Order: sequence, then C-alpha cells, then structure tokens
Amino acid sequence: MSSNGHIGILGSGLIGRSWAMIFASAGYKVIIYDIVAEQVTSALEDIKKQLLTCAKDGTIRGKLPAEQQVSLIEGTHVLEKVVENAVFLQECIPERLDLKHELYRNVDVIINKQTILSSSTSTFLPSVLSKDLTCKSQFIVSHPVNPPYYVPLVEVVPAPWTDSKVLETTLSLMKTIGQSPVKLNREVPGFALNRIQYAIINECFNLVEDGVVNVEDIDKVMTDGLGMRYAFLGPLETAHLNAEGFKNYCSRYSESMFNVCKTFKPIPKITGPTADNIAEQLEKITPIDKLPDKRIWRDLSLMKLSQLKKNNQV
Ligand code: NAI
Repeated sequence: MSSNGHIGILGSGLIGRSWAMIFASAGYKVIIYDIVAEQVTSALEDIKKQLLTCAKDGTIRGKLPAEQQVSLIEGTHVLEKVVENAVFLQECIPERLDLKHELYRNVDVIINKQTILSSSTSTFLPSVLSKDLTCKSQFIVSHPVNPPYYVPLVEVVPAPWTDSKVLETTLSLMKTIGQSPVKLNREVPGFALNRIQYAIINECFNLVEDGVVNVEDIDKVMTDGLGMRYAFLGPLETAHLNAEGFKNYCSRYSESMFNVCKTFKPIPKITGPTADNIAEQLEKITPIDKLPDKRIWRDLSLMKLSQLKKNNQV
C-alpha cells in the first residue's frame, strides 16, 4: 500500500477512535471524520487522553512516542477532505443500513479508483452494503472485535465483486498495523465470529432454561474452563492436542460427540421468561450501574492477556 496519502476514518465514535489509534500506532497519518463536528473535537481530545494514559501505563501500541502518535491524527467534518487522497477508508458509523448507504453514495462520487472502502459493520453483508456503488469492486468489510485496541482479530469479508487485490491489500494492511486478520472466502450471515458466538449463547440459554446450570456457573464453564485454553489454542488445535492428532481425536470422540449433539434442542429465540431469568441473575452479579466499572476491568484484563499472548508465542 502506498505510503503517500492517509487513512480515513468515517465516524468518530467508539470503534472509529480505536481504529484511529491503531493506525497511528503503526505510523500512518489518519484523518478522522464525523457528521457531527463536536464529535470530531471530542474524539481528538479523547484519543489524546487515551494515548497519554496508555503511554503512562506502558500499554501503548507501536514504537512511536504518544505525542507523535497524537500528532498523526487530525479531524474534519468535511467529507471531501477525508476521502480525497485516502489510501484506505474505514467506515465506523452506526449500524443502520440507511445511514451507511447514504454515506457510501456520497463517498462513491468522490473516491479515487485506488482507495479501499472498508466497513466495520458487525451484521451487514458486504454485498448488501455495496451492491449499488460504482466503486463496489473497492468495497470490503473489516469487522473488528471490541475493544479493537486490545483484541486484534479482524474478520475480512469480501463481496462477490470485491477485487482480489483489495482483499489481499486489506489483509496485509491489517497485519502491518498489528491486527490479526482472518479471511472469509465468501460472505455468510454473522461472518465467522458471530456464528460461533451465537452457537455458544444458544446452548448456554438452553442449559439455563432446562435448569441444568445457573448463570454464574455457565459463564464459569467458559472463563475458568474452555475460555482459558481458547485464548491460546482454538477449538480445532485443542482437539488436535487432546489426542494424538486430529484424526486420532475423530476416531476416539466423533461418535460420542455426535450422540451428545443429537440431544441439542432446536435454536431458541433469546427472549421470554428464560431471558428475564438470565437478566435477573446477571444483574445480581453485576448491577446495571456497575457496568462501566466492569467494562474498564474487562479492557484492562484483555490488555494484560494480549501482552501475555505476545510474550508467549511458541
Ligand atoms: P458509535 O455510535 O459509538 O459511533 C458512531 C459515530 O458515527 C458517531 O460519532 C456518529 O456521530 C457518527 N455518524 C453518524 N452518522 C454519520 C455519518 N453519516 N457520517 C459520519 N459520521 C456519522 O458506534 P460504534 O459502536 O463505534 O460502531 C460503529 C460501527 O462499528 C458499527 O457498524 C458497528 O456495528 C461496528 N462495530 C461495533 C462494535 C462495538 O462493540 N461497538 C464492535 C465491532 C464493530
């Protein structure tokens, strides 16, 4: 990717701010844009505060000093300024199809042929987002995981018409900035992460509904069990290590796995009395007014885990 030109961030909320910090940490010049001018000002102030705090805590990413990273990020509420001469645009506006379509229509008439237009969307398929664009071969989804500054995964999802060079450049850019991209060969609803996450939530819901395990314990299955291994080894490599290789795992366990899975209930609608029961139990563990404190604790824990993972590579 050309080092001339900047990275443009469209939308300066939670995710836009994180992307701006990540790109600046790798030395990229960043322009952050928002339709609300005050949002741009508050984003720049917040980013500065966050980067200085990270520098003090020793959790800042990249090799550049915090002040230099701050100076790489500027703001604008003028769309032309962020789009023109951008090498890569990362869209981070609210998850509403009408808003995204309207923004893209405006970008479409001013974007260069070489600029990649990438969306942070969690739920919309790239084909649905880009089908009416002239620049649709330049469109891709780069779906981050919150908080992206500490959780490196990015799902890179092309539309059927995305240029293969756009896909390869996006994957390589994500690696350059220290994220961990995974390539989806084609779009599917929920991408990969949410499909797996929903399968887990469905089974947790069914086990609580059937009175097998309470909320505190079902979450413990993950935090003190599966989740501990999964932070270092995915489910497939876990299986590979749990026997003499994956083939041996299959010959030992596939029959019993299949028999357990046959007892799975149909896909639940996550609503109704069981959802109320789960909410009640969760609010006893973490009352609603304590959620902000718990989020700070979560981010700090993830930051420590990401450092451990970095220092712990085989
Ligand atoms: P947010 O609500 O924090 O920020 C959205 C920003 O976009 C606001 O500053 C708003 O003023 C601005 N905006 C609204 N319309 C605009 C327009 N037409 N042009 C420019 N700016 C506009 O939203 P958040 O949480 O940062 O989410 C952004 C995107 O990232 C969504 O697509 C979401 O699905 C995705 N995402 C969110 C995650 C999360 O945990 N929050 C995780 C992964 C992806």
